[in-house]
Amino acid sequence: MEFHQVIRLKSGKECILQNGSEQDGSDLLSIFLLTHEQTDYLASYPDESTMTEEDEAAFLKEKTLSPDEIEILARIDGTVVASAGIWRIGKKDKVRHRAEFGISVSKDYWGLGIGRALTKACIECARKAGYTQLELEAVAENERAINLYESEGFVEYGRNPKGFQSRHTGWQELVLMRLEL
Ligand SMILES: CC(C)(COP(=O)(O)OP(=O)(O)OC[C@H]1O[C@@H](n2cnc3c(N)ncnc32)[C@H](O)[C@@H]1OP(=O)(O)O)[C@@H](O)C(=O)NCCC(=O)NCCS
Repeated sequence: MEFHQVIRLKSGKECILQNGSEQDGSDLLSIFLLTHEQTDYLASYPDESTMTEEDEAAFLKEKTLSPDEIEILARIDGTVVASAGIWRIGKKDKVRHRAEFGISVSKDYWGLGIGRALTKACIECARKAGYTQLELEAVAENERAINLYESEGFVEYGRNPKGFQSRHTGWQELVLMRLEL
């Protein structure tokens, strides 16, 4: 899928949201490794990543060509500071209405409105792709993310008390959320 939007951040700076393309492989790898280092709320650690720049380029090419999946990059002055995407849960009839949403913003750029803009963009893309349910899982103590999701209409439908095992803090409870599109 393709997406393009220019937004004005709370800082006054311009930020471009655009689907990543093949030439953005190295930028996507860098922002992935950075955000996974900066927070313990994501699903893996940077040293567990096996993706290369070429893998990321192929991933972005595939998402851009896809009719129902997307990875959007947020750029400020040419630098990628965040990414977010939606992906299909399955192709079988019983689950084809469901998509998963994921997002991460570099810590230096939190609180400027990038997370909300990317969330809205992904919701719009999910609707366009024809899904009727968008889903996510968030660490229960990740208040910033949960506030954002609730304010965009996501509703909690359950919890997994031992969803993640953090290297630093032990068990992390996951809040399961869904949005009807
Ligand atoms: C969660 C995350 C995506 C939010 O991105 P962001 O760019 O900081 O979000 P925004 O600036 O658009 O703020 C969105 C909302 O978050 C909430 N929020 C922001 N700062 C907050 C804080 N200090 N405490 C609680 N909620 C907060 C508010 O609801 C805010 O909306 P408002 O500014 O209109 O009141 C970002 O912090 C992030 O990438 N964190 C690390 C990775 C992660 O946790 N990803 C989600 C995994 S489920």
